[in-house]
Amino acid sequence: MSQNRLKPLLRARAIQKRVKELGAEITSAHRGQALTLLALLDGAYCFVADLARCIDLPDLRLHFSRASSYGSGTTSSGTVTLEPLPDFSNRTVLLVDDILDTGRTLQAVKTSLNGAPVRTCVLLDKPTRRVPEGLQVADYIGFTIPDTFVVGYGLDHDGRYRHLPDICVLEA
Ligand code: IMP
Ligand code: MG
Repeated sequence: MSQNRLKPLLRARAIQKRVKELGAEITSAHRGQALTLLALLDGAYCFVADLARCIDLPDLRLHFSRASSYGSGTTSSGTVTLEPLPDFSNRTVLLVDDILDTGRTLQAVKTSLNGAPVRTCVLLDKPTRRVPEGLQVADYIGFTIPDTFVVGYGLDHDGRYRHLPDICVLEA
């Protein structure tokens, strides 16, 4: 197995602090609403688990779906594969993903929700990576980061490093 160097970019304590802030913001913006968090697996598993516990709303539901755009490399394959989504009518949907990179994933999920209103929340944003067909912005962003490949706190490289509590830059 090849060895990569991991350089910490965001420590667990800073991540937890920011997730709490996002949870409070989402709570006050959606008071009185029936909110469903639509979390994209596998990458968002840590983020949504922490975020949901920082949202104080009585009618909060979680739905998980699998979206994949990466193969085993560190650049997007360009094609997003999505599981079919249920009907979320009468609920506000907040799409939760680990990272907004080219924007293709958020674009594909929004399209498959058939134009229903959806808000978006990502832990990380790499704005310099956006492609024209996926010119996406998220409503809630944890951290804006430079164009580097990161792992940890749910993010993987070829299936590895998801369990790390810190978010680290993967150096060859
Ligand atoms: P997008 O469709 O290009 O915006 O890519 C979004 C998806 O690519 C994310 O949900 C991640 O699963 C994956 N991804 C993008 N950048 C990284 C990274 O730096 N590390 C790990 N996964 C990434
Ligand atoms: Mg993902």
